[in-house]
Amino acid sequence: MKELCHTIDSFKESIFSTITRKAIETGAINLAQGFPDFEGPKWIIDLAKEAMDEGKNQYSASIGIRPLRQSIQTLYKKFYDLNFDADKDITVTNGATQAIYLSIKAVINPGDEVIIFEPFYDSYVGSILLAGGVPVPVTLKGPSFEFDLKELENAFSDQTKLIIINTPHNPSGKIFTTKEYDQIATLVEKYDTYVLSDEVYEFLTFDNFKHTPVASHYKLKDRTITVSSAGKTFEFTGWKIGWAVAPAKITHAIRMIQQFQVFCVAHPLQVAMGKAIDRLDSYLPDFRARYQAKRDFFIKGLQAAGYSPIIPNGTYFVLVPIDGNDDFSACMDLIEKKKVASIPPSSFYLKSDDGKKYLRFCFAKKFETLEKACELLK
Ligand SMILES: Cc1ncc(COP(=O)(O)O)c(C=O)c1O
Repeated sequence: MKELCHTIDSFKESIFSTITRKAIETGAINLAQGFPDFEGPKWIIDLAKEAMDEGKNQYSASIGIRPLRQSIQTLYKKFYDLNFDADKDITVTNGATQAIYLSIKAVINPGDEVIIFEPFYDSYVGSILLAGGVPVPVTLKGPSFEFDLKELENAFSDQTKLIIINTPHNPSGKIFTTKEYDQIATLVEKYDTYVLSDEVYEFLTFDNFKHTPVASHYKLKDRTITVSSAGKTFEFTGWKIGWAVAPAKITHAIRMIQQFQVFCVAHPLQVAMGKAIDRLDSYLPDFRARYQAKRDFFIKGLQAAGYSPIIPNGTYFVLVPIDGNDDFSACMDLIEKKKVASIPPSSFYLKSDDGKKYLRFCFAKKFETLEKACELLK
């Protein structure tokens, strides 16, 4: 038979599937994949049940139900003073992952270059390659995970079409600074590129750190696609409700692809998430306090177990430097010997070997899970 799509030849099984399978086989505590080991709020489950009982069970509008798009519009206005139009600028997607795919497909022609900061969320590279684009990595250097301006400048060329930013950043917990936004904006303007900003951890910031959307930057608003996910904010990663927010022309392109890809997203879950977003004001204080406590608790536990974690300013991940230069073996060793699963971050790099020096742990887990993991890690 004729050969299948060549792009897929370079795709390997996701590291999350590999490690999760190993964790299950060995009975290890799974601090690998980024999702809570507890239920999201019961009141949101009730909202979804109500929506089902009320008959919201057929296809919705392809672009997402209007009440949810209006809730997203209000979110950006209320929290960031950003004006987006629910009818023209907002598309509901199957999680942020699909929003990322749609955004890249909407912007990229075969051969276009896309700058990505490494370590990166692994769907970026897959989506770029599926669109026929060329990923161009720029390394964020630990322990502070700043980029080297010269390296970034050298990554830009006349072929650059898009740069992807992820802030707060998985896996480092870095929050990009205003100075970094300015530096990126200057280059983006110079080379006339688009920006995809993955902000799924927008409400997971710690201490006095605050998230500022990339689209708030006066030079970037008109060329930025902002992606986020209710899955992270409301602890329902399995519901896969996300969105892409962008100027009308880009949104039109995104919607044209959406109609032929999944057409629409689970209808009753859109109803529930719209209502949940409307209650963010009362929801967020407890949410943020819980994750701040989890971060502090886990960091202390890791330190007591003899590790020197890099303290994250955002997200629910922490990178821990390891002895030696082989994150995969170190990860397997911890699973076998200590019964704790993490992620070897070298799979989030294309260029640098820096990822081999760390393991990534997820602390979106019950306190008792974190406590047990820290005990085992001693
Ligand atoms: C940086 C980043 N972007 C996007 C996603 C995916 O979000 P969703 O589950 O809504 O597709 C994740 C999930 O871990 C992530 O870490």
